Amino acid sequence: MANIRAAITGVGAYLPEYRLTNEEISKMVDTSDEWIMQRIGIKERRILKEEGKATSDMGARAVENLLEKTGTSPEEVDMLICATITPDMNLPATANIIAHKTNIHNAWSFDLNAACSGFIFSLSTATQFIESGRYKKVVIVAAEKMSSIINYEDRTTCPLFGDGAAAVLVEPSTEDVGVIDYINRVDGLGRHHLHIKAGGSLKPASEETVKNKEHYLYQEGQAVFKAAVSSMADVAAEIMEKHNISSEDVAWLVPHQANMRIIEATARRMGISKKQVMINIRKYGNTTAATIPLCLWDYEKQLKKGDNIILAAFGAGFTWGSTYLKWAYDSE
Ligand code: UT7
Repeated sequence: MANIRAAITGVGAYLPEYRLTNEEISKMVDTSDEWIMQRIGIKERRILKEEGKATSDMGARAVENLLEKTGTSPEEVDMLICATITPDMNLPATANIIAHKTNIHNAWSFDLNAACSGFIFSLSTATQFIESGRYKKVVIVAAEKMSSIINYEDRTTCPLFGDGAAAVLVEPSTEDVGVIDYINRVDGLGRHHLHIKAGGSLKPASEETVKNKEHYLYQEGQAVFKAAVSSMADVAAEIMEKHNISSEDVAWLVPHQANMRIIEATARRMGISKKQVMINIRKYGNTTAATIPLCLWDYEKQLKKGDNIILAAFGAGFTWGSTYLKWAYDSE
């Protein structure tokens, strides 16, 4: 019997309409378009402004878009994984809410919390269920309302992040396409450099924690920057070496979009030219788990069946990893 591979067979997305520009951020904190463009490379990010709307609303729109594009009915879906660090509520899982909102009733679902590595960790997880032959259709939806955990008085974090969602369908293939391999890593010591101090079991929310703004994302930018540059590049280079792939063999590098300088350093280390790199940080910022599938969605029309693609991510945890896959379809 031919080997079963887990292949991405469609991409959907949803982005809120509101564009938070550098000019607007410059009125909120002491910063400038020039600083943000030079040090990060972001021009604007999307923000979910509508009252009463949450991560699941963006996630559900992305899943609906995916199901429509791929001609999949909700009843066919076997499993749904939601990669997020901004769940609607601490419990239940946002995946369950998205499944409910999209009429996915014959599946089980769960959230996967790996911050910016959430999509690649979810893809590795989905791959196991597909390769084993157990499931035929797995939906991964990466959705983040980062604006709900960002302190817009903190200039060191507020220009970085944006809201958005993207979803992929993962199905079995016996052709030479799909996920070939992945390398995923974590280092819990990294938690000290990027976390939310309060609202968990260690420090439950109180009047005091809210007053101290401890319910917002806390980041030591430089420590995260250094770890991201070395870890993401190392693991991407490792997977290329393991599979004997040269930079010319790579059609696309899809790096997590946290900082243009990290993207460029990763590409340099892999010997990959900028035109082989998917980049959309300028218009969406860092949407955490959603950056990689949003890139796939943005570049979908340029992808060809059989293209060698390297995904690479780094995020809070620390978590990081790289996936090597062959693209499964021609878009047009
Ligand atoms: O996706 C999750 C993983 N996260 C990341 O990968 C983010 C990694 N980190 C970064 O991207 C960068 O560290 C930042 C963009 C967050 C910061 O850039 P940096 O080049 O590391 O700046 P820095 O923290 O070393 O700060 C340099 C200076 C400081 O001023 P002084 O102390 O030298 O006077 C900061 O106060 O820049 C100042 N600064 C700003 N100035 C204008 C920090 N933020 C701003 C700002 N506008 N928004």
